[in-house]
This record gives sequence, structure tokens and C-alpha cells, in this order.
Amino acid sequence: MPKLTVVNRAGEEKTVEVGDGLTVMESIRDNGFDELLALCGGCCSCATCHVHVDPAFVDKLPPISEDENDLLDSSDHRDEYSRLGCQIPFTADLDGLKVRIAEED
Ligand code: FES
Repeated sequence: MPKLTVVNRAGEEKTVEVGDGLTVMESIRDNGFDELLALCGGCCSCATCHVHVDPAFVDKLPPISEDENDLLDSSDHRDEYSRLGCQIPFTADLDGLKVRIAEED
């Protein structure tokens, strides 16, 4: 199974295996990272699944929708590598992706 490395707010890294059909948000949440609240359950309306993506993978990610872009704008911690984890399906070509859970807003 493809692997995803998650860095929590304390800077600790953990690599998890991701099953078919999950998003980055679901992969993080289902592996016990309680810092990632994902309050809206993945329907792109809360921004509590904000992550910073490894720059090496940015080109492999789906484009940012207008809704995702607007939500990310509401964060004080947005940077050029910011994405909402629920908007990234974890496909096989993202194997090895590393994301850092964003600072709390
Ligand atoms: S879980 Fe709410 S926007 Fe991603």
C-alpha cells in the first residue's frame, strides 16, 4: 500500500499505509492524529484539515478549487504549500508524500 508521512505540530513524524479510496485527511484522521479535526467530515467547508504539503509533490496534486482556495484564505497560516487534506485523494502516485499538519488557527 502507498505510504504517507505525517508530521504533527510537535514535529514528530509517523509514516502510515493508506488504503484505496481514502483522502489525505481521512488517512491522517484514521491513524489517530487528533490535531487534525476535520470538523466538516470532508465536504470542504471547515478548513480544519489544513496541511502543508512537501514541495516535491505539489505538481502531482489535483488543482485547488475556488472553494478550497477561499477556505485556505481564512487561515493565518496559509503558505504556497497549503492544501485541505480532504480535497486530496491519496492515489498511488502520491506514494511517499509527506504532509505537515498546519498550525492551529
Ligand atoms: S475536513 Fe472540513 S474542509 Fe476538509
